[in-house]
Amino acid sequence: MPVRALWYRGHSLHLIDQRELPARRVLRHLKRVDEVAEAIRTMVVRGAPAIGVAAAYGMALASRTPRWTSEKAARLLRSTRPTAFDLFVGIEAVRSAWARGEDPEAAARAYETRVVDECHRIGTAGAPLLASAHTVLTHCNAGALATVKWGTALAPIRVAHETNPKLFVFVDETRPLLQGSRLTAWELAREGIAHAVIADNAAGYYLSHHEVDAVLVGADRIARNGDFANKIGTYEKAVVAHENGVPFYVAAPWSTFDFRRPTGADIPVEERDPEEVLRLTDVRVAPRGSPARNPAFDVTPAKYVTGFVTPAGVVRPREVARLEAKARRESRPPP
Ligand code: MRU
Repeated sequence: MPVRALWYRGHSLHLIDQRELPARRVLRHLKRVDEVAEAIRTMVVRGAPAIGVAAAYGMALASRTPRWTSEKAARLLRSTRPTAFDLFVGIEAVRSAWARGEDPEAAARAYETRVVDECHRIGTAGAPLLASAHTVLTHCNAGALATVKWGTALAPIRVAHETNPKLFVFVDETRPLLQGSRLTAWELAREGIAHAVIADNAAGYYLSHHEVDAVLVGADRIARNGDFANKIGTYEKAVVAHENGVPFYVAAPWSTFDFRRPTGADIPVEERDPEEVLRLTDVRVAPRGSPARNPAFDVTPAKYVTGFVTPAGVVRPREVARLEAKARRESRPPP
């Protein structure tokens, strides 16, 4: 059974502090919206669907005190991280319910249930792609920790593993914050799924030596034309996969699809503290005085995507725009 990244009980949001994994399993208990905003900003909780759900509960916590209006709480939470569209969808799901006089806690719970259910369906929809695969490569962490439960990219891997137990996963380490080696490897190890962590620079080697049957990643925002943002380094993997004829799949729930952004050029890319690059966990590895740059995401053009694994099945990039009506039917309108 996959781990659960967060849960809401007794008017508190309980989170696994993902900065501490895999060395320690530390829980944080948050009672205020400003605490939730800080947890998202500092990546106690991370991964697009998970920060959307955390933000939804942040809105619910704000609604319990007269100090916050729905607009003020939404503004604070929106300012935490700019790229993942799910964050804005999660906030809006509760803001609009609150504005209509509905129970914000019930709205946040309903939003969480929807995200978890969609990720489960992604697992079922994507597993046939891996039915006869020997080896799959993934980048960053698109598992239960990133989505509350199941995962996006890891959901089809989990389901496929049940019937194809020899399935092997190459896990990119994912510098600078090592979401692959710290978090994805931790999830796979807990569940007995065979894997190896590889240096980010090694993916091209394995792809060009035909040791990878498919690449499967998550997304932080998908534009109307199928261009998508995901963790920095995804673009390189997509280009090298394409060059070597390896299928490249992107798994995401409806909350990641931003139909109002025509192309990837319209997706805002978060730039984080350069210190994250200059250090390896707590140890400074670059000389004092060397500056760094730290874009947290890159945008991969749709032409490199073989298919999007959605809750409603696998679709080609040119079919993304046509999903809007279905996504709207299955979820509330995006902000
Ligand atoms: O900076 P992070 O760790 O929040 O970035 C996460 C990713 O890029 C994931 O691949 C993405 O959110 C998809 S997760 C289901």
